[in-house]
Amino acid sequence: MDISGKNIIVTGGASGIGKGMCERFASLGAANVVVADRDLDGATAVAEAIGGAARMCDVTDDASVAALVADTIADVGHIDFFFANAGVGAGGGVDVSDELWDLSWQVNVMGPAIAARHVIPHMESQGQGTFVVTASAAGLTTGPVSFNYAVSKHAAIGVAEWLAINHGPAITVQAICPTIVDTPMAADFGEVMFQALSVDDVVDSVVAGIEAGTFIIAPNEQPMAMFQAKASDWDGFLGNLQKMVASMKPGES
Ligand SMILES: NC(=O)c1ccc[n+]([C@@H]2O[C@H](COP(=O)([O-])OP(=O)(O)OC[C@H]3O[C@@H](n4cnc5c(N)ncnc54)[C@H](O)[C@@H]3O)[C@@H](O)[C@H]2O)c1
Repeated sequence: MDISGKNIIVTGGASGIGKGMCERFASLGAANVVVADRDLDGATAVAEAIGGAARMCDVTDDASVAALVADTIADVGHIDFFFANAGVGAGGGVDVSDELWDLSWQVNVMGPAIAARHVIPHMESQGQGTFVVTASAAGLTTGPVSFNYAVSKHAAIGVAEWLAINHGPAITVQAICPTIVDTPMAADFGEVMFQALSVDDVVDSVVAGIEAGTFIIAPNEQPMAMFQAKASDWDGFLGNLQKMVASMKPGES
């Protein structure tokens, strides 16, 4: 699938990976890029720089997402690509609050699910479209840093997989699964197992992944290798992660 000439919505487009995707899609000749975010000032700055359109949207609010989709269709005719990218990283360990569990669930899981409610019927009515969820490697192999984040990203991959099974192949559904990325969110994760990817690394892999049409878009190899190791020896995989977590604790190596 080619980006050129396409109508594209990116949620969480004001910052980090979403901003990088908006900028790249514009440079690749997208017809219309809609930068959607709850941060309207940030979305406006990105949209003005790329000649796109800014939209205030809270991905957890059904009416807000419905308006984003309906207004975009009214403005540009149809939607080719929807990137359900907005996410939150705040979290913790076993003592993490109900508020943060709920926030992770609402943004990271219900965000893509609510978007699908409005976008997939439109794409089906036009006979084509691509729906991409920014999940995380933390959802493939359980990132150890944040309990609520890792669990919500497993569910985000579940959202994408369910959609792919039930609405593919007419609609292409994909899940982006990076390890840590150098964005404002990275500060939520503290010390991590992998060196941070750049936003450019991730966007390169997204463009390649869209062209290839593969379900998982993984900017680096470690998570898929770990995922395969988990499938063939789950206990061995857990033992390796336990050692990694122990080595990250102060006073242990
Ligand atoms: N940074 C990482 O290490 C990393 C790694 C893997 C996956 N991801 C995922 O990538 C996606 C983008 O994250 P990022 O690293 O660019 O973070 P970021 O914090 O730079 O950007 C997230 C954007 O989402 C927006 N947002 C948050 N809640 C929203 C809501 N309810 N409605 C609309 N917009 C909302 C924020 O305003 C922000 O602009 C997220 O889904 C994140 O979980 C990030």
